[in-house]
Amino acid sequence: MIDTTGHAFVTGGGSGIGKACVLLFAELGIRGIVVADLNLETAQTTVAEATAAATNSDFRAEAIQMDVSLEESVKSGVEHMVKSFGRIDYCVHSAGITIQSSNPVATSFSEFQLLDRVNVHGTFLVTKAVAAAMALQEPKPVDTSSPERGIVRGSIVNMASIAAVITPPSMVQYISAKFAVNGITKSAAIENAPLGIRVNCLCPTWTETPLYRKTMDIIPQLNDETSTTGIPMQRIATTKEVAQSAVFMCSTWSSFITGHALAIDGGMSLF
Ligand SMILES: NC(=O)c1ccc[n+]([C@@H]2O[C@H](COP(=O)([O-])OP(=O)(O)OC[C@H]3O[C@@H](n4cnc5c(N)ncnc54)[C@H](O)[C@@H]3O)[C@@H](O)[C@H]2O)c1
Repeated sequence: MIDTTGHAFVTGGGSGIGKACVLLFAELGIRGIVVADLNLETAQTTVAEATAAATNSDFRAEAIQMDVSLEESVKSGVEHMVKSFGRIDYCVHSAGITIQSSNPVATSFSEFQLLDRVNVHGTFLVTKAVAAAMALQEPKPVDTSSPERGIVRGSIVNMASIAAVITPPSMVQYISAKFAVNGITKSAAIENAPLGIRVNCLCPTWTETPLYRKTMDIIPQLNDETSTTGIPMQRIATTKEVAQSAVFMCSTWSSFITGHALAIDGGMSLF
């Protein structure tokens, strides 16, 4: 059985992929979870649903309002988690935004800066604050029956995108942000490996969430049929499929994987 019975900090947990991660953690027996989102109301709804789905009798969850693009907000969110739960074993950083416009010629600088602030600064700030908190906590053995597997202080999973691997047209603001997520992940993985902290990112293709629906409103050529173009498995991802990869990356089942960008793309990046 996969073991994720510790404590998790999930950003963007009020919707989509982040919410699916919270619910899966609850089903698999997690003990404590903080759902951090810009939207406190949706985070609270996720906490209520996770509490109903939880299988650990000691389960406890809290919703907090946090803006990942602001250093003070991230710092106080992480401090709150440590104070309230004692440690952070897993972090899934799923808060992010999509493009606001699709322009084949030029993206406005203000939009470029917006995606930079939320998707790049957010990833930097969350990774930095969570890794610093993890570095201060007591290490645990990865597997008491295999001491050679060493110790673990925590695992961080950032949400990149298949747009961090391939380059769909007319979205430089999103592509550049997601390539940066991959870069932050790899740098943090190297720096934190000696401490027993792993840092990975996930690279999903289109996934059925409100963000995907919003992107459809912005790109006129994108619809339920065209979104599967170029995907050998001929469909988009479910949030549960992405959540299962996130939980795997958090668990000790991935204990020797760090700095990795895992494509969850039905084969899209093979072309
Ligand atoms: N859905 C897809 O097709 C897809 C594909 C690849 C990657 N992704 C990435 O996965 C992540 C999650 O996307 P999703 O589809 O679940 O989106 P979503 O819109 O369903 O959920 C995103 C959540 O992030 C929160 N959020 C937005 N800005 C925030 C901020 N500044 N601070 C804190 N929270 C904030 C929102 O309130 C929302 O609850 C994003 O990083 C996205 O780029 C999504």
